Amino acid sequence: MCGIVGYVGPQVSGKALDVVMEGLGRLEYRGYDSAGVALVAEGDVETRKRSGKLSNLREELASAPLHETATAIGHTRWATHGGPTDDNAHPHRGGRDGKLALVHNGIIENFHSLKQDLLSQGVEFTSETDTEVVAHLVSQAFDRTGNLTDAMREVVNTLHGAFTLLAVHADAPQTVVGARRNSPLVVGLGEGENFLGSDVAAFIGHTRHALELGQDQIVTITPDTYEVINFDGTPSDGKAYEVTWDAAAAEKGGYATFMEKEIHDQPHAVRDTLIGRFDAEGRLALDELHIPEDELRAVTKIVIVACGTAAYAGMVAKYAIERWTRIPVEVELAHEFRYRDPVIDQHTLVVSISQSGETMDTLMAVRHAKELGARTVSICNTHGSTIPRESDAVLYTHAGPEIAVASTKAFLGQITASYILGLYLASLRAGVTGVEPDVEGILAEMQAIPAKIEQLLGQMDRVKEIASYMADSRSVLFLGRHVGYPVAMEGALKLKELAYIHAEGFAAGELKHGPIALIEPGQPVFVIVPSPDSEHGLHGKVVSNIQEIRARGARTLVIAEEGDEDVVPFADVVIRVPRTPALLAPLLTVVPLQVFALHLSTAKGLDVDQPRNLAKSVTVE
Ligand code: F6R
Repeated sequence: MCGIVGYVGPQVSGKALDVVMEGLGRLEYRGYDSAGVALVAEGDVETRKRSGKLSNLREELASAPLHETATAIGHTRWATHGGPTDDNAHPHRGGRDGKLALVHNGIIENFHSLKQDLLSQGVEFTSETDTEVVAHLVSQAFDRTGNLTDAMREVVNTLHGAFTLLAVHADAPQTVVGARRNSPLVVGLGEGENFLGSDVAAFIGHTRHALELGQDQIVTITPDTYEVINFDGTPSDGKAYEVTWDAAAAEKGGYATFMEKEIHDQPHAVRDTLIGRFDAEGRLALDELHIPEDELRAVTKIVIVACGTAAYAGMVAKYAIERWTRIPVEVELAHEFRYRDPVIDQHTLVVSISQSGETMDTLMAVRHAKELGARTVSICNTHGSTIPRESDAVLYTHAGPEIAVASTKAFLGQITASYILGLYLASLRAGVTGVEPDVEGILAEMQAIPAKIEQLLGQMDRVKEIASYMADSRSVLFLGRHVGYPVAMEGALKLKELAYIHAEGFAAGELKHGPIALIEPGQPVFVIVPSPDSEHGLHGKVVSNIQEIRARGARTLVIAEEGDEDVVPFADVVIRVPRTPALLAPLLTVVPLQVFALHLSTAKGLDVDQPRNLAKSVTVE
């Protein structure tokens, strides 16, 4: 949600604009309503900004080039206050002379009262944004202090809300100052040059040395130095780390879209998330789970908090974790959890799932859980992001950078990591519950999943073909039972966000309680069929559900295991997935649904990687 880049390098190189534009290109997935840059040049600050995608700004820069300079900041926007217009695009200038430029991610909650003060002083505004207020305030503070870091510190202490801010000033050349509260900002450390970014993708083409900032911190970079202080002025060191992936991982690698590439990355996402979680004897060993074993044994309830796709991963995980540990598991949308009165105590383990680690709703739920005394574990794909930093422990999913706005490989990584956590808890509690799942056997089946995904990806031609002739569909339904139910909802979510088609996922058993009224001749319905080996006659029940909708004219698109012949008489189309134990099936059955949504979106000529109105990483509530 808004991408931010800052750069300061050697005076002679003059490459600041190129570096910042490259960074914005990599961050555009965070927001793409408008974009802009500001450069410090010859005692002045120059800005260019344009509504629409980054390509509009590129055209503008080609027709009206800027100076070659050593210092620049840039922004790609997902609009909150004020529509996506040229005027509302960032950077915003501050001061009568416009010598300060500032970019912002987040929301300044008290901007209205601050703006009234400025208006009463005669300050004129050119935009409707909360950001311009901050630009004027920092400019005024700079006029008083003559120091950009001091000016930033003075102002951030008056702001409420969530923000990452970057500022440059014509009278502080070769300096960029950044500040963060509840919103991401990382530092990239180069040789004779330094970088700031909303995430490491902003500078991954230049350095893999990064520095994590804490909550309420300010960083000042020059070509050769960086300095971190807290909002109260005390110095801090920041936490240095190496980024484990390189620029190639953040590129399309020959695929037409990031989403297609990321769907094909899924075998790696599962494999890499499993790697390093075993001791020399091959037993699960989660060294990173810094919560004493006794406390984990004493857990009486698990609450999973997450949003969107991550919440569906949590719903899948509930089936497995309860089964293996006999600990009750609740799954709750993070934004709902936070604002009711959940029953939580010190024996509750609150597990947050978040690809970005920055989703504000999820972050607020984690904080609330901590206030209530719970232990918190984060399942996250982004090193050093806020949610893992604020949790008691983190299990990283090693899915690599996910750039497409619609989540795919992170979903598989999240299920894998949640299952590892469930199996680990199960082994710790084996003596407690008397239930001993076959941890080794399940892990062996999980190790086999990447090859099965590869096999499945090799047989997607039929799915692509169906997608291309379904481009005119007005509505598509998805049905599943047990772990197939969250998969149905995930399939529907992918279709909504990518193809803008009405789509709904239902528990197949719920159909006769209402939704079956939606079935009319020709209505396409995907059905996720559990393995014929499933317990409790689940397979037969879903086959009956297929018959019920087919009898009412539905067009049935059935996802079923290889060798499941029972579905054939009732299916208009059968999509086969390799055989696998029931609880692991979501790692396979979701794949054709992702491919379907991708190709239907492509058939409609839509932007697969950057669907309308959305942004990756939602850092506002
Ligand atoms: C859907 C999608 C979103 C995210 C949700 C949570 O394709 O990507 O529903 O899953 O916004 O994001 P994270 O996982 O970053 O917390």
